[in-house]
Amino acid sequence: MLLNIAIDGPGGAGKSTIARAVAKQLGIVYVDTGALYRTIGLYVRRHDTDPADMDAVAALLPGISLEIKYEDGGQQVYLNGERVGDAIRTPEMSHYASAVSVHPPVRNFLLDTQRDIARKTSVIMDGRDIGTVILPDAQVKIFLTASPECRAERRCLELREKGIDTTFEAVLAEMNERDARDSGRAVAPAVAANDAVHFDNTGMTLEQSVDYVLALVKEKTGVSVGEAK
Ligand code: DC
Repeated sequence: MLLNIAIDGPGGAGKSTIARAVAKQLGIVYVDTGALYRTIGLYVRRHDTDPADMDAVAALLPGISLEIKYEDGGQQVYLNGERVGDAIRTPEMSHYASAVSVHPPVRNFLLDTQRDIARKTSVIMDGRDIGTVILPDAQVKIFLTASPECRAERRCLELREKGIDTTFEAVLAEMNERDARDSGRAVAPAVAANDAVHFDNTGMTLEQSVDYVLALVKEKTGVSVGEAK
């Protein structure tokens, strides 16, 4: 059985960490869709283009070829043949990704790339519109949240681990701004699908969150650890 699991929600809720761990346990592929928007953001930045200018951003899209590969135990995005690596993981690229993602041409550009993967292989895919737009037929849909303070704290730790110096206040402000744009945009906003399970993991450990998701997958699909392919 082809398994499609969608995890949506705001930044810092732990979507990627949880999804990666669940994918490993189930033996399926983890797809980080935010990385695609970040890569477009990187290209737009490199072309000194205003990410809020839809026409200018749309004009750049024909020059972009994106590829997702699974290497070194994880997802790698290639932009015109170049592995983007950590260049897309900066706070600046978080901002660029969110800004370009409001434009319908950008969302259309990435639609098939995301759907094609889930058609061919069992996936757990994280993003903002996976349960609503990309995989409306996913067997399991989760809308993951945590309190803003808890999410900002996690994001702070993540950034500091990468050697990016920042303050809690700066991260919280940037996160709130990004969440408001992602959930308030006209097209494919970050909202829960009608059939999504709301999961607030404030104060929970990674292990508890992963167990919760695995139990939900078992309940919805009958599939448990080691059984998926
Ligand atoms: O998940 P992330 O922080 O890497 O995502 C970066 C931005 O990309 C996010 O602020 C909004 C956008 N995004 C989106 O619009 N739809 C998705 N499915 C994933 C990300």
